[in-house]
Amino acid sequence: MLRCEDAARLDRLYLAADRTRRAVVGDAVFFRGLVEISNYCVRGCHYCGLRAANHRVRRYRLTQDDILACARAIKAHGLTTVVLQGGEDPTIDAASMAGLIREIREQTGLTVTLSLGEHSPETLALWHQAGATRYLLRFETSNPSLYEQYHPRAAGLPSRLELLQQLRDIGYEVGSGVLVGLPGQTYADLGRDIQFFATLDLDMIGVGPFVPHPDTPLGKSGRVSPEQVPADASMTFKVIALARLIQPAANVPVTTALRTVDPEVGFKRGLCAGANVVMPNFTPEHSRGDYAIYPGKVTATLSVADNIRNLKNTLAALGRTVGEGHGDSPNRRRRWGGSTT
Ligand code: 5AD
Repeated sequence: MLRCEDAARLDRLYLAADRTRRAVVGDAVFFRGLVEISNYCVRGCHYCGLRAANHRVRRYRLTQDDILACARAIKAHGLTTVVLQGGEDPTIDAASMAGLIREIREQTGLTVTLSLGEHSPETLALWHQAGATRYLLRFETSNPSLYEQYHPRAAGLPSRLELLQQLRDIGYEVGSGVLVGLPGQTYADLGRDIQFFATLDLDMIGVGPFVPHPDTPLGKSGRVSPEQVPADASMTFKVIALARLIQPAANVPVTTALRTVDPEVGFKRGLCAGANVVMPNFTPEHSRGDYAIYPGKVTATLSVADNIRNLKNTLAALGRTVGEGHGDSPNRRRRWGGSTT
């Protein structure tokens, strides 16, 4: 299916994914408020604009008060989840992050999702005890040699996968995913990536197209071989649909990268191909432009209120509803019973 270009066959794929989505997670679309807390990063990922060696980025780190204000804004907009995302910032101190998580829980009752890269199992357990219940950590590619090539100064793929298992053992809902169209990624690689979603029994699956960032080693790469997966919206819709079919109970967002490469209909088509989540950006406007993982992010300029209004209009036109409650993956009930509330 990844190679398929036959429109009728692809429509059947999207229809199947859409039916599965409706039967398993329903018509509700869940909004998660994204706060990009720091763009400092020690890592050197070859695709990412925030890599340590990129000295063109203006680095910032939000204060605890900034982050709490974002959490209150998320709550005021009626959302129930905050996603704290950041680079691997060496000054993130485990105890103060735990304090922040507690404070957010006490002041707002929001579900706290973390997306802060790799940390020790002790630190991850501390944050879970403090009240964070979901963790997003993409494995980026299941091809070990591509993984090693693009992640210098990092432990390899096996240790990344082990960390995903540790997150699960600690009790987090676990989200992961890959880049679509990473240079060197073949159709066979991407097919294996999708099979991994099921092997890892993921609760959340986030996929987006690779968008070249000019100030990175992969800034200028084009499509080099016929086996190279294109990094475009169409391929990403296919991956969303296949992710929904292979791991039906996962929460699957339409990612910002997908909305960036297809600002017109990316959100709508993603929702019709199996997705049920979106993550509007609540990072304060003075810093939002500096969280430049890749250039041209759609959410860099739009105000929070405008963005949410646009998203709600789109989903209403599709007959979809805005999610109520915390929007846990149905997997949570299967694994541990109950909910996060
Ligand atoms: N294009 C698209 N996505 C990217 N990410 C990092 N760099 C890029 C890029 N150039 C993704 C990674 C990471 C997530 C937060 O952003 O998959 O896990």
